[in-house]
Amino acid sequence: MKICVIGLGKIGTIIARKLASGGHEVVASTLHPERHRDVEREGIKLYYSNREAARAADVVILAVKPKDVTKVLKEIRSEVEDKLVISIAAAVPLKIMEKVCPKSRIVRAMPNITALVNEAVTAISPGGKATKEDIELACSIFNLMGEAVVVDEEAMDTVTGFVGSGPAYAFMLIDALADAGVKVGLPKDMALKMAARTVLGSARMILENKGHPSELKDWVVTPGGVTIMGLYELEKRSIRAALMEAVDAAVNKAREITSKISEEVDL
Ligand SMILES: NC(=O)c1ccc[n+]([C@@H]2O[C@H](COP(=O)([O-])OP(=O)(O)OC[C@H]3O[C@@H](n4cnc5c(N)ncnc54)[C@H](OP(=O)(O)O)[C@@H]3O)[C@@H](O)[C@H]2O)c1
Repeated sequence: MKICVIGLGKIGTIIARKLASGGHEVVASTLHPERHRDVEREGIKLYYSNREAARAADVVILAVKPKDVTKVLKEIRSEVEDKLVISIAAAVPLKIMEKVCPKSRIVRAMPNITALVNEAVTAISPGGKATKEDIELACSIFNLMGEAVVVDEEAMDTVTGFVGSGPAYAFMLIDALADAGVKVGLPKDMALKMAARTVLGSARMILENKGHPSELKDWVVTPGGVTIMGLYELEKRSIRAALMEAVDAAVNKAREITSKISEEVDL
């Protein structure tokens, strides 16, 4: 299986590398080959033309910015007839991509940056022409860097503001926790490592079914003790409401961009 990645930006580069290290033959196209010599050294063949790269592959992964998706699809349209095209672009609906490339089988995917450490949960949403095998192949690609989950396309904007953006929320929370450690006297590097490990360990306990978060929280709390004082302060500042409002705002923005792209796109 030869896979082409178009767009060697932050996430495209991670995906190309993970596929290559997972044993796939990978080609990629880039407007700036000089920036990607390290990728080339990892056995990924670079093309300067999207069309040539798409022609050389069985499956094409589109990892360009949403505004560039239709332009690139028009460019490669004749090369991806009867091929599977997986777009990871936020906010570009299947119906638009299927209109540009009616002879291709299209799947949308929304991974996140934690693919770098094989922990990404990736939502997969198949288009009308995608077969069961295409869905399985898309899932197997993203299972290489975490876990793939199939969702209806209506859920994609929600997933974008929740899963796609999710690592940014987590990084901010971990950094804030580390700063709290600094405030009480720990050096920042030590506080950061302790905060990250604490969050990682807590997440693993949930994923490994050690209990529901509220039940696990009660394991840590002693009546009248240390932890409940910290939790009380968090409750006073409505941390749950803050997270709900953050995700609401991100999802609304993703929906707004989807509507704008749907209205503006020049087919
Ligand atoms: N970053 C994330 O966490 C994340 C998560 C999920 C989904 N996504 C989606 O992934 C896509 C890429 O995001 P990103 O954060 O990786 O953006 P990015 O770093 O800006 O990468 C986009 C890349 O596209 C390439 N490009 C632009 N025009 C092109 C063209 N005409 N032909 C070929 N390549 C072209 C550029 O790479 P070169 O010029 O160097 O080739 C650029 O580096 C977006 O649609 C985004 O919605 C991102």
